[in-house]
Parts: sequence; C-alpha cells; structure tokens
Amino acid sequence: MDWNSDILKNHSWTGAITNLESKQKAAEQIAAKVVSGDIIGVGSGSTSYLALLAISQRIKNERLQIQAIPTSVEIALSCSKLSVPVTSLYEHRPDWYFDGADEVDPNNYLIKGRGGAMFKEKLMMCASPLNYIIVDNSKLVDKLGSKFPIPVEVFPTALMHAEASLKALGAIEVMLRPAQGKDGPVISENGNLILDVRFDIIGNDMENKINCITGVIESGLFQNQSVEIIVA
Ligand code: 5RP
Repeated sequence: MDWNSDILKNHSWTGAITNLESKQKAAEQIAAKVVSGDIIGVGSGSTSYLALLAISQRIKNERLQIQAIPTSVEIALSCSKLSVPVTSLYEHRPDWYFDGADEVDPNNYLIKGRGGAMFKEKLMMCASPLNYIIVDNSKLVDKLGSKFPIPVEVFPTALMHAEASLKALGAIEVMLRPAQGKDGPVISENGNLILDVRFDIIGNDMENKINCITGVIESGLFQNQSVEIIVA
C-alpha cells in the first residue's frame, strides 16, 4: 500500500544547485557505471542527488535491478521519491560508492560534511571496496581548509572537552554549527552536535588526531581512504 504522501511528491533538492552544468556532467559519468545487480552506496549533497536522478533514469529506461544504500535521510527520501530500491549495511556490503566533496587536494584528501552527513558517508566509504568522488572544478584546492572548515560531529556532553582538545591540536576557530530551521545548534542525524573547525595547518595525521578525541563521533576530514576522483 502506498502512502500517497504530498511530502514525497514534492520532495526534490532544496534551493539552487551551484555549478549545475558541471555537476550534471559528473552525475552522468556515475550513472554510466551502473550495472544491473549492483549494490550502490549513495552519498549526500546536490551532486549525489543529481547522480541518483541520472541513475533512476537508467533504472527506468533499461529495467536495471540495483539496490541503493543511502547515507542520509535527505538521500533516502530521494531514493523513495525516485523509486530506487534501498537496502542497508545490515543486509549488504556496497559494490561501490559515490559521493560529492567540498574540497579535494592534490593527494586526493577531502573535506566533506557541509550537509552534516560525514559519519555515515565515511562509514560507507570504509565499507565499500571502490569509491568515486564526483566534483566540479571549484572543489579542487591546493591546500585543504582553503574554503571550508573541517566539520566535526561531537556527542553533546563532550562539546567543551572536544573544543578544548581541538584547540590543543592547533584549531584557530571552533564554531558550533547553528541550525537554520530551528533555534540553537544543528542536531545531526545521529543526535549529535557539529563543530566547524579551522586550522592554519592540516597535517597528514590530522584525521587520526581528531578521531582520537573522546566524544568525537567522526570528522569530515578524509585522509585515510582510497578514492577515485571524477572531475567534470
Ligand atoms: C554532505 C557532503 C557533500 O557531499 C558535500 O557537501 C558536497 O555537496 P554538493 O554536492 O552539494 O556540492 O559531504 O555531507
């Protein structure tokens, strides 16, 4: 039985998509990789949304049998709206995963998490044997942190401890991410708080150092993962 839900019928990407044309080209490249039978981890953000749209077109046109594992409520709703079948990490390991990023440096290290989904995104990336990161040119940087802070998801009562520990690692700015549709801070999908953290220097071991802070659930710094970058 269907819900006949107006929320689902009206669901689409909220707001304008920056660099739409480039992101669409990258999305098409991802959709071209889909093979019937694939279990695909699906990232979050507007580029991932466009890739999911392109994949859903191929599913319809070619009757492909795939299952998606979404990394956020936002993309789970998009799967539902686009009739893309979903599964979870309980049932399946992804054959491959795609996602966007906020920054990519020459080592293919990333900053992600503008959308706050970095915990499940990193979990998916670690679970998947093959990871594609799809970005437009604007995401390529010489130095991580040039444009975006590093988001750090923190268990609520560890907030001040995490702030002090991040400062001890050299953080020059630690901001509690404010919510936009509610008063107070953003509450993550996992019930936690998000700190946006700036450093002058981000060493190659910073991901490990941040993750060692008790109370840190995950950060949006990706230095330890193997990824293939697709630039459109
Ligand atoms: C969400 C993310 C996104 O992948 C990242 O913010 C890129 O977003 P967009 O494709 O909208 O530019 O990490 O947590």
